[in-house]
Amino acid sequence: MFITFEGLDASGKSTQAELTRARFLEHGKKVVYIREPGGTHLGEKIREILLDIQNSIDPVAEVFLFSAARAQLVREVIRPALARHEIVICDRYVDSTTTYQGYGRQIPMDSIHAVNRLAIADVLPDLTFFIDIPIDEIERRQKTAGKITDRMERSGRDFFERTRQGYIELSESCNRLKVIRGERTPDTIFSEIWSIIEKEIPSSSSG
Ligand code: TYD
Repeated sequence: MFITFEGLDASGKSTQAELTRARFLEHGKKVVYIREPGGTHLGEKIREILLDIQNSIDPVAEVFLFSAARAQLVREVIRPALARHEIVICDRYVDSTTTYQGYGRQIPMDSIHAVNRLAIADVLPDLTFFIDIPIDEIERRQKTAGKITDRMERSGRDFFERTRQGYIELSESCNRLKVIRGERTPDTIFSEIWSIIEKEIPSSSSG
């Protein structure tokens, strides 16, 4: 079973990914937990390049870098884990490229789809949770956290508006993508997520 979490930066998706992982572990499941970009030796190196504010990266080069990290992750980690019937939870996956690079950076969608297909082959998630929060709330959270932003986070409000719109459109056309309202307590959000997992994947709670 393959579950991914998506959303804009500071949406709270990583908290939800971790809660999901913990719940599966409580049920005695084997879980592989990864984040993108990263999760392999190569992927972590590519991650450093992508997030480094010193690097000027052309949007097309950016697509290939995210996709290179993903291609490695699929073949080295995700596919083998699924073949062992383990649960794979990934904090971001292919939908991030469609939304951030396709909608956000405005790379033509047919190119994005072609590169995505090459990177993931046929490995699509069973379920994807898009944690949605308004841009104002994201900016408020980022201000409160007061952390130094990475290269992607400096992309500007218009970029994030387009990216969010991408997630919304994708959710409308794609059954596996579930929109979760992110302006609630982590516990409330997680209850909704877990009930969807139990409904969609009946074996999720059984040992
Ligand atoms: P990260 O610090 O992991 O952010 P988050 O906690 O929000 O996931 O940084 C990953 C950044 O890379 C984030 O801004 C989203 C972006 N990204 C893309 O633009 N395209 C992609 O395909 C992926 C996987 C991530």
